[in-house]
Amino acid sequence: MQNKTKEAAAIICRSKLSLALTGAGISVESGIPDFRSTDGLWARYDPMEYGTISAFRRNPQKVWDMVAEMSALMNNARPNTAHVGLARLQQLGLLHTIITQNVDNLHQAGGATRVIEFHGNSSSLICLWCGERYRSQSLSGKMPPKCDCGRILKPEVVFFGEPIPSAALAESSRLAAACEALLVVGTSAEVSPANTIPAMAKSAGAKIIEINLNPTVLTESLTDLFLPGKATEMVSQLVEAVEEAIPPSRDGHLHP
Ligand code: APR
Repeated sequence: MQNKTKEAAAIICRSKLSLALTGAGISVESGIPDFRSTDGLWARYDPMEYGTISAFRRNPQKVWDMVAEMSALMNNARPNTAHVGLARLQQLGLLHTIITQNVDNLHQAGGATRVIEFHGNSSSLICLWCGERYRSQSLSGKMPPKCDCGRILKPEVVFFGEPIPSAALAESSRLAAACEALLVVGTSAEVSPANTIPAMAKSAGAKIIEINLNPTVLTESLTDLFLPGKATEMVSQLVEAVEEAIPPSRDGHLHP
């Protein structure tokens, strides 16, 4: 195991309040493409034509061509060892909250208890005309799903040009300003305001630990420890190092 992983584990064990910020990269090994890698979603769908709220209002049927493809992948996806590993850190009392940009619900499916969904969740749909809300599972398989009022429903995920849910934004900012360690996993940190969270944490004195396949805009500027590699491998190694660093209690078990 790399010394940097042991150093990261020590930071997590010492930290009185640790957070995680995750992006699409943590779910790639669950079969859901990310956005900006060469084989990512935006390589096949122009975000200006498929990812903005004005594109949705202009042609919801067209946007649902992409959304339906992503929904099918998400419905078949299972949490991977990175999702489960972060949940384990929460069970050990060493990870307060996961702030995720993802809408795939895989953190919760992997056992995470406190998750802030910065960009919403694809399992909820809303009618932009009458405000009616639906659970996506409650609808027939017909695409695109329609409201009882007849209009095409919108997934309750944040499209470009839409605001971040105010409670998610407020709580994320509050925690970022108070944390002592921030674990950034699988995000390019290209999209605002999610990409301001590492800077908020840094200015509060937190240590930034970054897990990514490749360096990002954070790596040379804000990151204290860069752990290059796949999220499943690096998070698993980090959790292993944390569990080795925690003294077992008298009954020989690790207790949160
Ligand atoms: N393990 C670790 N990192 C990975 C893996 C992996 N298996 N696969 C990809 N990555 C990394 C990529 O190198 C990249 O840095 O994950 C990052 C994914 O970046 P993006 O595709 O930009 O996804 P994300 O940062 O989540 O995008 C933020 O942009 O389009 C919007 O709303 C969308 O929430 C999304 C936001």
